Amino acid sequence: MIVEKDLIKTVIYASKKAGEILLKHFGRSLEVEGKGLRDIVTNADIESEDFLKDFLFREFPEIGFYGEEKGGNLEGLIWMVDPLDGTKNFFRGLDVFAVSIALLDGKKPIFGVIHIPTKNLTVWGAEGMGSYANDRKLELDEGDGLENSFLATGFPHGNPELVDPYIETLREILKRAMGVRRMGSAAYDLAMVAYGLFDGFWEFGLKPWDTAAGAIIVKEAGAVLSDIYGGEWDIFSQTILVAKRKLHAEMVEIFRSIS
Ligand code: IPD
Ligand code: CA
Ligand code: CA
Repeated sequence: MIVEKDLIKTVIYASKKAGEILLKHFGRSLEVEGKGLRDIVTNADIESEDFLKDFLFREFPEIGFYGEEKGGNLEGLIWMVDPLDGTKNFFRGLDVFAVSIALLDGKKPIFGVIHIPTKNLTVWGAEGMGSYANDRKLELDEGDGLENSFLATGFPHGNPELVDPYIETLREILKRAMGVRRMGSAAYDLAMVAYGLFDGFWEFGLKPWDTAAGAIIVKEAGAVLSDIYGGEWDIFSQTILVAKRKLHAEMVEIFRSIS
């Protein structure tokens, strides 16, 4: 599958339209339901996913669809969609959330778009084509050591069994890094690594819809993508680590030393 300009333009447009749906609901009263362990879904998540599914099917009937809220098809060429990443932020009025759309060829992300409506920022990347923020090409340098690095992470609060191993990693990073932030939206974090706001990001227990688009975007921007031990990452990996080259090597060494 060759990712063509028209496809890229169309999916960027779709991500912005989904972002408009989210902004229409943001700060207003929402219908909320519980789902899973201490997890919620709102009518905004559902409306965004329904829109993306219909829109992408109309534009690309030959490509399958899998959305976080309603599932779908996992075979062949598919869109892997998180219609609202950062639902709890959104629900509580914290303006850090994103729409994440990836094109997967089997398990492999070949194109991804992350739209951040409150920043009016769209970050995308495609295999062999590089990554862009709006129209600016993203080219990360090799970075610095941990003590000069500003990192993002996420807490595995929905996975009690991952809390202790995660805290081990956090403890070591907190002792060494310049700064660590927990924004509450993994897609946002990944987009912001590609954008250069963060130098690196690691998290445990993420799902394919959280990471698929961000993975190809950070890679194409020049960051290194792996599991936290430096092993090959795929959309089902239990951990993810993305960072500028120098920093990635240092973080892998630390994570290996505590495993
Ligand atoms: C969540 C966010 C969060 C991460 C959670 C995800 P959601 O996605 O990405 O940063 O820590 O593990 O579930 O539920 O807001 O789409
Ligand atoms: Ca998510
Ligand atoms: Ca979501």
